[in-house]
Amino acid sequence: MNDEYFIKAENYISALFHLTDPVLAATLQSVQDAGIHDIGVSPSQGKLLQLLARLCGAKKILEMGTFFGYSGIWLARALPADGQLITLEYDPQNAAFAEKNFANAGLQNKIQIRTGNALELLPKLEEEGAGPFDMIFIDADKPPYAEYFRLALRLSRPGTLIIADNVVRHVFDPATPEDKKNGVIRFNQLIAESDAVSAVILQTVGSKEPDGMAIAIVN
Ligand code: SAH
Ligand code: DHB
Ligand code: MG
Repeated sequence: MNDEYFIKAENYISALFHLTDPVLAATLQSVQDAGIHDIGVSPSQGKLLQLLARLCGAKKILEMGTFFGYSGIWLARALPADGQLITLEYDPQNAAFAEKNFANAGLQNKIQIRTGNALELLPKLEEEGAGPFDMIFIDADKPPYAEYFRLALRLSRPGTLIIADNVVRHVFDPATPEDKKNGVIRFNQLIAESDAVSAVILQTVGSKEPDGMAIAIVN
């Protein structure tokens, strides 16, 4: 098992299930053109997120960490006509690229990007009464993952699906900075022990670094 194998397998799955189209390709191209390392989810992970959103009949989805909008497009496409994705992004440049990509996808009416620190934006969403969300995808910076989870709970209802990306690699990667590693470990311990959710971690391999996604359902 090596990277080459996982990439070959991802490409096989991607071709088999037609996990690309002009909109998704243009979104990935916009990352390339910006000369930025693509830290979005893989095509198969995007489809998985979409299937999960459909499975929970999501009308309201919250995402932390928009980046260029790749996962957002997969998620928003699962929404009904009156559904909404609110996605939080700290970096205004990323948010601007995402906005273009969402418009190109014809999803601008279903997606609201909020620019700022998720730690500040989440309490604002609560004050506004924006919740409860049917599905919440945590994929912003890793050190405050546990805080994101606590804030996510406040925007949830019993049955809300909470997914968190990148919860395995940083536990084991010797190159991971301590704050990221500790953030992820704290998050994992919290969801494992919390009575508020029932959860597990699914390891992920493919075109991205081997990692894992946490899956939690609010009790
Ligand atoms: N979900 C995206 C990838 C997100 S990458 C996809 O799969 O396509 C993580 C993103 O979180 C980056 O764009 C980064 O700028 C953003 N981010 C980092 N710290 C943040 C914070 N405190 N609040 C909101 N977003 C943050
Ligand atoms: C990074 C962030 C992510 O959400 C991811 O899936 C991969 C990498 C990063 O910040 O490097
Ligand atoms: Mg991620």
